[in-house]
Amino acid sequence: MTKRRRARRGATLTTALAAVVVAAASGCAREAGDVSADKDGGVVHVACGATEEWCAATTEQFTKTTGVKADFVRLSSGEALARIQAGKDNAEFDVWYGGPADGYAAAGEESLLMPYLSANAKAIPDKYKDPSGLWTGVYVGALGFCSNKELLEEKGLKAPESWADLLDPKLKKDIGIAHPSTSGTAYTALWTQVQLADGDKSQALRYMRELHPNVLQYTKSGSAPAQMTARGEVAVGVLFSHDCIATQEAGFPGLEVTFPSEGTGYETGGIAVVRGAKNPGSAKKFVDWALTPEAQEIGPGVKAYQFPTHPDAEVSDKVVDLDGIKVVDYDAVEAGEAKPALTKRFDEEVAQAPKS
Ligand code: F6P
Repeated sequence: MTKRRRARRGATLTTALAAVVVAAASGCAREAGDVSADKDGGVVHVACGATEEWCAATTEQFTKTTGVKADFVRLSSGEALARIQAGKDNAEFDVWYGGPADGYAAAGEESLLMPYLSANAKAIPDKYKDPSGLWTGVYVGALGFCSNKELLEEKGLKAPESWADLLDPKLKKDIGIAHPSTSGTAYTALWTQVQLADGDKSQALRYMRELHPNVLQYTKSGSAPAQMTARGEVAVGVLFSHDCIATQEAGFPGLEVTFPSEGTGYETGGIAVVRGAKNPGSAKKFVDWALTPEAQEIGPGVKAYQFPTHPDAEVSDKVVDLDGIKVVDYDAVEAGEAKPALTKRFDEEVAQAPKS
């Protein structure tokens, strides 16, 4: 069931890597790093930060609609940025699609993206796009807690309702969250702490250090803690709420989504043309199409319940109501500028700290 809902929130927006080769609509699988097939006029190579299923459905539908072939590699935000950096002089990808906009802002700081003002971007509210066309928002998602109710009950705990609740010693090694260097989800959590601390990065890192003994493991991808929670490896995952809903729907009804009362962070999932793209015409076509209601309505069919940025796109009733939760003021550009230094500090001051 879907219902039409309009964007209402006036938010300030703003490893060797998994060499998983993913077949796209063209039916062609592409080895990571293989650029031999790059010729403009009929193909777009996408660094895709949405779920694997959504990336596949989107590239497939794009090809059906436009006749332009598309393939993708699913990459977490930090991975995508690293791969785009590595391809600075020999671009591997034409488009970066999905993943929080602060990653795009960080890439923009290094001139890794090519500004493109798609005519279709006019329909996207200003709060969901960079004015110069560096990136444009295709979806919005809110950070939340994903709890395994049974495990929490065994501990005599309720689903957490605040960031402070996560510090409970009863949750020792029972929290799953990704590493902000690789994951845009985890960076959203880290920047949320900065916002809650009125911009004080040291205080934000202090909170993350307090949380550290309760974290079982920092995963690479932001959605991985949903599966860990579902399997009972941890009691609570910190991740985008839509990834918890998708896992619930995949056969784990014992999961519960809650939001922190202090305020939570949110993402604007972006899209951008990569500077030096070998298929710039196809890349622009992909951006144009991704900004249409048709493209933005694909998500719910593959259990991806982000909020579409196009005001005319149908909105599933499983999408979080951003007006129903307290969110922090999340400026993707400011967050992106701070990203390299802050993730470095997280790694040195938090991730490597011994667990008491
Ligand atoms: O699973 C989809 C999703 O949560 C997107 O909404 C988000 O942009 C992306 O994953 C973030 O992935 P990661 O945290 O792995 O960078």
